[in-house]
Amino acid sequence: MTRPSKVTVTEVGPRDGFQIEHDLIPTATKIALINQLIEAGVPRVEFSSFVSPRAVPQLADAAEVLAGIDRSRGTELVALVPNAKGAARAVEAGADELCVFVSASETHNRKNVNRTVEESLAGFADVMQIANRAGTPVHGAIATAFGCPFEGDVPVAQVGHIAHKFRELGMVGVNLGDTTGMATPPLVVERCRHLQERVPELPITLHFHNTRGIGLVNVVAGLDEGVDRYESSFAGLGGCPFAAGATGNICTEDLVNLLNELGIETGIDLDVLCGVARRVEEVIGRPLPGQVMKAGPRLHLHAADEVQTAVG
Ligand code: COA
Ligand code: ZN
Repeated sequence: MTRPSKVTVTEVGPRDGFQIEHDLIPTATKIALINQLIEAGVPRVEFSSFVSPRAVPQLADAAEVLAGIDRSRGTELVALVPNAKGAARAVEAGADELCVFVSASETHNRKNVNRTVEESLAGFADVMQIANRAGTPVHGAIATAFGCPFEGDVPVAQVGHIAHKFRELGMVGVNLGDTTGMATPPLVVERCRHLQERVPELPITLHFHNTRGIGLVNVVAGLDEGVDRYESSFAGLGGCPFAAGATGNICTEDLVNLLNELGIETGIDLDVLCGVARRVEEVIGRPLPGQVMKAGPRLHLHAADEVQTAVG
């Protein structure tokens, strides 16, 4: 399999990132950051989720956020939804695309949406009806697709079973979510090959967290399997409030820097993106894990007299 020459990056910081922050971020700040991402050339943004505002109060303003986003550049604006009620709210607000989610493991699905896996899947038929009526495409995301923090290893056949169900329901793609950073290159290869064989019509998107420091290594494993869609979060913010030990997503600037160095196109201006990430760090008010926003791209040079000369 050859590596793709072009990759689509979906920025999920406004959803996966902001959902885990204790302090509420003002709606106007969220809108300003998303509009800066769009200026940087980010082609897709998961701007929020339409879940229960009691479960995730941080994202209760999803419709107001969408209303403030600059849509003049045709950026695809994706809403995460758990059920028919969320789908109806997202369609009413005018989201371009919906993304439903279910976990591959029963315990995480119960923690996350208070349903069994089969109950979640059954509920997606109503989501599809609402989306089809509105002409809105739906992606299906599988959380804990590389392992569950409560149950451990997740059988690849279970991931295939859920993806197959997504296809039967008429969804347009499958996202593999590494909710707590349990993916490894061999698991990425195994899961991608299984899905490419079982549901070849569904494009795969990979969603890694950098919990164990191998998020970008997993991206390279995905590229080698021909996968050309990745999700990441500005400044490396992110994590699931309903999973033990969840930490940040792979960082968008670090991902774009890697793809640039591999000669893979993203259409994103890395300098502008690093500016957005530094602004995110200011808003959050603590150091965030992103590295390229601090170091700059590889050829970001320094004047020789900035540093003293070592003398013995
Ligand atoms: N948006 C807004 N309100 C919703 C909703 C949605 N998508 N889905 C359900 N509700 C409301 C119901 O209307 C009901 O309100 P009421 O008590 O005022 O009548 C209440 O929530 C309970 O509904 P129910 O269907 O019994 O939900 P639940 O309590 O079993 O919770 C979820 C299920 C899915 C709504 C909830 O667990 C959830 O929002 N989880 C999201 C978790 C998440 O975002 N994780 C991170 C992303 S991976
Ligand atoms: Zn995530």
